Amino acid sequence: MHRLLLGLLLGLAASSASAAAVEPSLIPRPAQLRLANGQFRLAPATPLRIPAHDDGARHAAQFLMSQLVRTHGPRLALAEGAPIAGAIALVRDVHAGLAAGGYTLDVGVDGIRIVGADDAGLLHGTVTLYQLLDEAGQDAVPALHIADAPRFAWRGLMLDSVRHMQTPDEIRALIDQMALHKLDVLHWHLTDDQGWRIEIKRWPELTRVGAWRTPPAAGEDGEPARYGGYYTQETIRALVAYAAARGITIVPELDLPGHATAAVASYPQFGVTGKRIAVSPDWGVNTTLYNVDEPTLHFLESVLDEVMTLFPSRWIHLGGDEAVKDQWQASPAVQARMKALGLKTEDELQSWMMARLGDYLKRHGRRMIGWDEILQGGVPGDAMVMSWRGTEGAVDAAKLGHDVVLSPSPDLYFDQLQSSSDDEATGRIPPKSLADIYAFEPVPAALDAAQARHILGAQANVWTEHMPDMRHVQYMVFPRLDALSEVLWTPPARHDWEGFLARLPAQLERYRRAGITWADSAFAPSMAIDETAARAHGRTTLTLANQSGFGTMRYTLDGSAPNPDSPAYAKPLAVTLPLTVRATTFAPDGSILARRVRSFDAADLYARDGNTLVNCPGNPFRLRVQPLPDATSRRPVYTINLFNACQVWPAAPLDGAQALHVELARLPNNYALAHEATLVVQRPRTTAFGELVIRRDSCEGDILATLPLPDPTAAPRRFALDAHFERQRGAHDLCMAFTAPGDGPLYAVGRLSLDAPR
Ligand code: ACM
Repeated sequence: MHRLLLGLLLGLAASSASAAAVEPSLIPRPAQLRLANGQFRLAPATPLRIPAHDDGARHAAQFLMSQLVRTHGPRLALAEGAPIAGAIALVRDVHAGLAAGGYTLDVGVDGIRIVGADDAGLLHGTVTLYQLLDEAGQDAVPALHIADAPRFAWRGLMLDSVRHMQTPDEIRALIDQMALHKLDVLHWHLTDDQGWRIEIKRWPELTRVGAWRTPPAAGEDGEPARYGGYYTQETIRALVAYAAARGITIVPELDLPGHATAAVASYPQFGVTGKRIAVSPDWGVNTTLYNVDEPTLHFLESVLDEVMTLFPSRWIHLGGDEAVKDQWQASPAVQARMKALGLKTEDELQSWMMARLGDYLKRHGRRMIGWDEILQGGVPGDAMVMSWRGTEGAVDAAKLGHDVVLSPSPDLYFDQLQSSSDDEATGRIPPKSLADIYAFEPVPAALDAAQARHILGAQANVWTEHMPDMRHVQYMVFPRLDALSEVLWTPPARHDWEGFLARLPAQLERYRRAGITWADSAFAPSMAIDETAARAHGRTTLTLANQSGFGTMRYTLDGSAPNPDSPAYAKPLAVTLPLTVRATTFAPDGSILARRVRSFDAADLYARDGNTLVNCPGNPFRLRVQPLPDATSRRPVYTINLFNACQVWPAAPLDGAQALHVELARLPNNYALAHEATLVVQRPRTTAFGELVIRRDSCEGDILATLPLPDPTAAPRRFALDAHFERQRGAHDLCMAFTAPGDGPLYAVGRLSLDAPR
């Protein structure tokens, strides 16, 4: 059911009963939109007119038609020629006073006209029209006038194709979605410690050797024997052209001088030690650096030669992040070079190296971008800074007069979880919700108006360590990309969180029809019971909630699927166990936003999912991971703290308990921590492989049980241990700490079950 029509049927539209009184579900919201009377009715094969010999208009028209076909929208008949009555017309007008990327769109009873001055404007206008046509249900579009232009020039998304790769078709589908969100930059992270993904003809070892890594647990339990691959130059050219036809520039990133393990594994002579090393299967901060000698710089320049032939982008990203300088400090040759160059610190040496390569780009008409670490040792004035370590880098860089793009961690890192629900997939913690993304402001308050002009825009970063396949990438990207697109496109005065939510169901329906996976985290009903009351007398209360508060949660307790007539949740319900709750969040248009089912029984009152435990005092780091890094299974997931293998079950209902059954998982320790390794808490062990030590009340409290861990070379990856102890009284915090050696596997707690009295 389409929203406008349903709005009418339900009497939700304005009292004039005009369908046009409902704001169309356009995301990002246009800068100006005025609804008018009447509508344009589509005929079968409505003409779509474009100017003669206008490639930009033709690309825009073809993109519109391909999206309509893909989502079963109306068919249009494309022809060159001036606008005629009854047609949709694209008009190029450089005298209409339109901003870059801006357009006007007018829908009247006798036709639709989109005016743009540039290719981007025509494309943006057709994207808006796509959303109108799609929502209008193929036959009519409400009369309206839209005048629209982007707030920021850089509206980006970064895709990491190193940690996990995506197929060209998958990237094309992502590019389509970016275009449909009026984004214009795909920052493509192509080289890193874990792989080299871009074919360089002059240096074939980069992909023969550097594109492949041996995963931990290679070949076991769904983990591949080797992981990797690369994009050929032919594939890259096709993707660049595909993106360009959709108004998107692909900005490649070669990360240097750190994140260089795959390159140095391919050509050890361009590393600092000259030793042959393996492509790294370890996430985090590896310590391999490029050398700084002339042969290495010539190697990098020759790589850039090929990069520049593949990518017409003015901007080329040279990384610059997380380059720990140990290897440079330990190398007499590097130290001698530093001295010869008159440089005092390794940070200055990095700056020198990046400036030299930045200069090389400049001589070829290009410009360098670097992560904000490039500010550390001084940076050429025309380099762009990408601020990721919070927003301080953006402030510093803009004050120094550099152009800046914001992609701060964790705010715009799409590898952060989207909610604290225990059914979220893998990712970093804390969650960054849909509302968090919508509330992000790219221009730091510390900048004055002149400095703020250096903020070109922002992008979300999709780091894929914990996203082994594209379905997972999509789950992390959508619908948070909708929120981001509105942040980047729409003038702040037109931002409206409630209105955004109201416009979202139509967008989610587009995703359904386009086969895009999206996260329902903002709408999923969470269900909780008062466990203390349930343990005391069986009767308890059930509370439902959803993160955004949007929509109506309807529930059943009788096993049937909730429908629009099921009771709407309004306040906590009195219930008795056992209990199975089914809850569905319905949008105002009746579409389904999320469904969940959950059972509660007596045993659950004495059990806990490991993902719901909390960190022991100390380090707040939390990461939710899949069992093996390159296997594509997404369940179960485990939460770990790399710095302190210790979790607490707060107020565990120990009263009467004498035993605890602990389900555990052994996980590969494929994390490189560099200098942060000194922060890892190591506890003394008394047996060969360490123990799980369970303490009562606090992590310094009495030991309730010490459970030796089995030999990791012999035990299954998932195993269980049983703790037995004296009968307990009352509720107590349970602190569970692992004493396994830090250079061995990691351990995570799965489900915990007490043998409490029933
Ligand atoms: C980054 O996240 N290392 C840019």
